[in-house]
Amino acid sequence: MNPLEQLVAPELAAFQSRTPKSRAWYERAAKVMPGGDTRTGTFHLPYPLFISRGQGCRLWDADGNEYLDFLNNFTSLLHGHAHPKVHQALIEQGTQGTVHGTANELQVLLAEMLTARVPSVERLRFCNSGTEATLFALRAAKAFTGRVKIMKMEGGYHGSHDQVAVAMAPPYDSRPAGLSPGALSEVILGRYNDLDRTASLIRQHRDELAAVIVEPVMGAGGSIPAAAEFIRGLRTVTEECGVLLILDEIITFRLGYGGMQEHLGVRPDLTAFGKIIGGGLPIGAFGGRADVMATYDPTRPGAIVHSGTYNGNAATMAAGIATLELFDRPAVAALNAAGDGLRARLNGIIANHGVDAEVVGFGSTMQLHFAKGPITTPAQTHAGNRAAQQAMHISLLNRGAFTAARQMYVLSTAMNDATLADFATQFEAALGPIAAALRTPEPAGSAR
Ligand SMILES: Cc1ncc(COP(=O)(O)O)c(C=O)c1O
Repeated sequence: MNPLEQLVAPELAAFQSRTPKSRAWYERAAKVMPGGDTRTGTFHLPYPLFISRGQGCRLWDADGNEYLDFLNNFTSLLHGHAHPKVHQALIEQGTQGTVHGTANELQVLLAEMLTARVPSVERLRFCNSGTEATLFALRAAKAFTGRVKIMKMEGGYHGSHDQVAVAMAPPYDSRPAGLSPGALSEVILGRYNDLDRTASLIRQHRDELAAVIVEPVMGAGGSIPAAAEFIRGLRTVTEECGVLLILDEIITFRLGYGGMQEHLGVRPDLTAFGKIIGGGLPIGAFGGRADVMATYDPTRPGAIVHSGTYNGNAATMAAGIATLELFDRPAVAALNAAGDGLRARLNGIIANHGVDAEVVGFGSTMQLHFAKGPITTPAQTHAGNRAAQQAMHISLLNRGAFTAARQMYVLSTAMNDATLADFATQFEAALGPIAAALRTPEPAGSAR
């Protein structure tokens, strides 16, 4: 065993002895769900924690262990769990029915809130997930331009439909299991934060490209912010080439009152939304230029079919409205400042421990990478030390901090200074031994 493995073995044993009920649920789950889980990103070894309840910024597992929730359902929870106002909105809507099979007023109210916050969004439609939001935004772009190819970035994540499910991790030119061949041949891969290369690919493929889709801060790709010049440069070149620009703000909408596009001063043709706008219930939305979105107008011949049994359902709309009402400009600024402060503090701890690692991010979302900074591309993320990330994950769980296995940390407005200080303490306690193990030379002949 190398020094890191020697460190992880007792942490795994401690995890197992603290969580026998999660283990029992996992064994039962494995009989009805492949791999005992129903979401790739939530699975981790030796088995996922089964969480029974959440309140504010805390979670309790099936064994009654308490955790600080620094994941917030991969960014979708803005105010933590069971916020009284969101809860109340759900109770009230529950008494009126959750979905009625036709249009409802709440759809209009939430759409008005979003279009008021994001001026580039002149019209929008609701769907049930971020995957659907990027699928339908891309479909609008294809219908509008009459072209079929799209550009996404190497390492970019925009959900699970075929065209965006390629090149999520290296090797970027391979076809993941189950995808159609068109998924590779109809996708041009740009490189995040490399404007020269990406712009020249757009120019080269201008006659075939319907759209470029990009996140202003890469989420699953490693919480890596785009350089402002990169996104602004993409806007200039796409405009010059008649290719639509789609900003995937499914995560990043929480980073600005009007999303990251407000910070960047960029007006995309289309934007994809999800996560926080559903207030903790499933949602997606896509919108932008009125002329592009008119491809969905059912009164026009040949309109795109956009079905979805739960599109704009009243329960989700009510929770989304309550959530955004609480997230005014001062609240956005306070949450971003709290995240920036935490990130600086964690990077200070890393510097004190003299380890090649960096916490990168923007405002309330960030990720720890065991790689030499500055980290600006997802390729650096993928080349980082995954074993150290896993060690950090299990150590943090054992210290009462719930994070993404890949070490993404997400804040909610339910946290205060004491919560952040507690997390920093847990982070330092977990990092210290890992940093020491990484500095220890491996015994000769040991396998990594
Ligand atoms: C940037 C981005 N786009 C799209 C998606 C897909 O959203 P959903 O999981 O709601 O389908 C996600 C989900 O994590 C995301 O982070």
